[in-house]
Amino acid sequence: MKAILLAGGKGTRLRPLTIHTPKPIVPIFGRPFLDYQIDLLKQVPEIDEVILSLNYQPRRIEESYGDGSEHGLKIRYVVEPIPLGTAGAVRYAGDSLRDTVVVFNGDVLTLVDLAAVIRLHRERRALATIVLTPVENPTAYGLVETDPDGRVRRFLEKPSPDEITCDTINAGIYVLEPRTFDRIPTETAWSIERSFFPSLIERGETFVAHVYRGYWIDIGTPEKYLQVHRDVLDGRFSAPNTPAVGHGWLSPDARVEPDARVDGPCFIDEGVVVKAGAHIGPYSVVGRHSHVEEQAHVAGAILWPNCRVGREASLGGAILGRHCHVGRNATIRDGVVLGDKSAVTDYSRL
Ligand code: GDD
Ligand code: MG
Repeated sequence: MKAILLAGGKGTRLRPLTIHTPKPIVPIFGRPFLDYQIDLLKQVPEIDEVILSLNYQPRRIEESYGDGSEHGLKIRYVVEPIPLGTAGAVRYAGDSLRDTVVVFNGDVLTLVDLAAVIRLHRERRALATIVLTPVENPTAYGLVETDPDGRVRRFLEKPSPDEITCDTINAGIYVLEPRTFDRIPTETAWSIERSFFPSLIERGETFVAHVYRGYWIDIGTPEKYLQVHRDVLDGRFSAPNTPAVGHGWLSPDARVEPDARVDGPCFIDEGVVVKAGAHIGPYSVVGRHSHVEEQAHVAGAILWPNCRVGREASLGGAILGRHCHVGRNATIRDGVVLGDKSAVTDYSRL
């Protein structure tokens, strides 16, 4: 069985982080995000190949994953000439497929039991099966209403507040029968959420839902990107092959000077230097080879590799791309997002 990972979006809501790093490979505790999805797909022995459907900065992703042999799963790349939308991308990537296929949005992190979803799809002889998950505010997602027998009754992408009728949303994980793909146009962008799924409902076809109530997040905004790190540090999500971050992690190859203070849970990666008098507070994530200088204070910020935080600077819950330089005594508050190589002058306040 093949899995198609939709990883061609531009990641606009995560800009400026995604200017040089496509969303599928933004680091989560030093590992590219796709690693976590590949780990999940590997749990289903039946899945023998992942097709990465790409459009934006495909080279960066191909270089990271090659043929997949290092990751224990065959990986193939399909690069669209133009963004074809979520349905167009599925058709473009899956046109030659004849067997049931699993489709995944490239920005969701979850522990859903994929094998159970595939079983349900087969038991119900469905043309399409979708994973749903409850959220507090469905407006940023695809709202999905179901019948008591688990069939999808209505699909409404990005509902306005007055259109919300239930709390279950599209989790971005589908099992599909490729014989439906020829309904998707090939020349223009086509949306799986706005066009393909509603058309299945209109035709009364077997479109069923698997409701998953465990861990699920879409990492596509700075708030959610920060949230996923907190969730892991709090032990709400634990990923295989990631250093024990449930209670924080201090790399043995990091150097924390004796009178620096580190309060967990936080994550300090290899090659990091924390100088005397500096303080790293809970939920901070300090990427490889970053330096935090004397008396600086990092309170819940995420630093990508090779950042430097100057003396007495203070960072709240901000996100800093690679090679950022924060000058001495600068103050950066919660919510600030800096692109790679940003330089913040001494005494600045952001
Ligand atoms: N190849 C390709 N081509 N991939 C695309 C394209 C395209 O033209 N457009 C989007 N994608 C990929 C994105 O990279 C992402 O992985 C996935 O498709 C979903 O796109 P997003 O832009 O992240 O959509 P969203 O988060 O607003 O909404 C989607 O996900 C929600 C769950 O997180 C929808 O599927 C919602 O219904 C759903 O609730
Ligand atoms: Mg998304």
